[in-house]
Amino acid sequence: MSNPRQPLGPPQGAGGSGLILGIETSCDETAAAVVERGGRALSNVVASQMEIHAPYGGVVPELASREHLRNIVPVVRAALLQAGVSFADLSAVAVTSGPGLAGALLVGVSYAKSLAFALKRPLIAVNHLEGHIHAVLLQRREMDCETAPGDARRQASPEIPSGSGPALALVVSGGHTHLYTARRSQGVWTYGNVGRTLDDAAGEAFDKVAKLLGLGYPGGPWIDALAPHGDPTAVSFSSGRIKQKAHRPGWSAEGARFLFSFSGIKTAALRYVQVHDLYPSIEQRRRALAMLSGARPADALPLCDNRTLGLIASFQRTIIDDLRQKTFAAAETFGASCLLVSGGVAANRELRVRFTGEAVARGLPIAFPSPALSTDNAAMIAAAAWPKLLARDFAALDLTAEASMALGEPMERRAGSE
Ligand code: KG4
Ligand code: ZN
Repeated sequence: MSNPRQPLGPPQGAGGSGLILGIETSCDETAAAVVERGGRALSNVVASQMEIHAPYGGVVPELASREHLRNIVPVVRAALLQAGVSFADLSAVAVTSGPGLAGALLVGVSYAKSLAFALKRPLIAVNHLEGHIHAVLLQRREMDCETAPGDARRQASPEIPSGSGPALALVVSGGHTHLYTARRSQGVWTYGNVGRTLDDAAGEAFDKVAKLLGLGYPGGPWIDALAPHGDPTAVSFSSGRIKQKAHRPGWSAEGARFLFSFSGIKTAALRYVQVHDLYPSIEQRRRALAMLSGARPADALPLCDNRTLGLIASFQRTIIDDLRQKTFAAAETFGASCLLVSGGVAANRELRVRFTGEAVARGLPIAFPSPALSTDNAAMIAAAAWPKLLARDFAALDLTAEASMALGEPMERRAGSE
């Protein structure tokens, strides 16, 4: 084997063929995609393990690793086939190296290392969270390819970053709720972590409350579909606990403004269920849905009474309002030129409507990925790898998975405050 610190076979010219194979196995989706020059997905294959984890109401790490092992080879083959390219056409192999489940990440990293070595192509390590941010950029570039310069869809979507300030990115998923500033200088992206959750991620709260109410897994799409049928003012959830937790000694007031906490609202929902004795109806609903094969959110609607629908609508509204207020406050504080919202929860319809409404009112350009690019996928990993390929930012063959990998410099303890 060559020196493990040396990058592998650099492509000729600016990125060679420009075709990057992306591989993503950080959680419960085995995904592979071929993306051309960071701007056009030729394929985007996702093998979901949803049905395997659904009976447990959450991802079981050992099962996830086993399924990735089973799926990785056919998924990569399908991605190449769908793109109409061969291994020899690739300029580089990109892989998520963290954060995520250690065993799950290792499957993708080991496979990508072997492939890059065998093909004599560069290996590019991508942070999963950076991938989510680049899903928005990929969406924007794809639209540029598909539309004429005067097209209204193009005008409604911002250049990124669109002015002198950074882009402000909210990455909100089952594992993360993070706010980043994102800057591009001479083709290289740098990030500052300006906000994060102190406990549960927003998507985790959606999943846990859906499980509590006897709905399906993952819970986000179920709550998204049921919330419009309930009164969002029916239950008043306090966000006081968030503020209290954030004001810890050593945390600046400025940094604490952009911290999230979603474990309190989950407990409040549980208390509401106990106080109003919703357990019998929950059990009835759980049993009725279990009897249907492939139950969908629409099947749950006739099984929910008004009190339950009010709880669901209020829960969703409270979380979205909290995300919205802190995201726009951060955008103002950091002089953001545009807003990028990504991650599984960014597929939420009410979130999109309320964020877009406020962005329009403030004159701040906002962009979301398509729902398919919002949840975990490998096209976003290949897109994030493109600027790294141009900058020859290659990983060595001793690359390892890093379960708690961070993105960007943490900015919560800002100098000069408190
Ligand atoms: O980005 P993702 O696929 O995986 C992680 O990196 O976590 O996000 C999955 C999360 C789950 O918690 C799921 O319930 C949530 O995204 N989610 C949604 C919606 N679709 C997926 N949450 C709210 N509304 C949705 N429509
Ligand atoms: Zn994700």
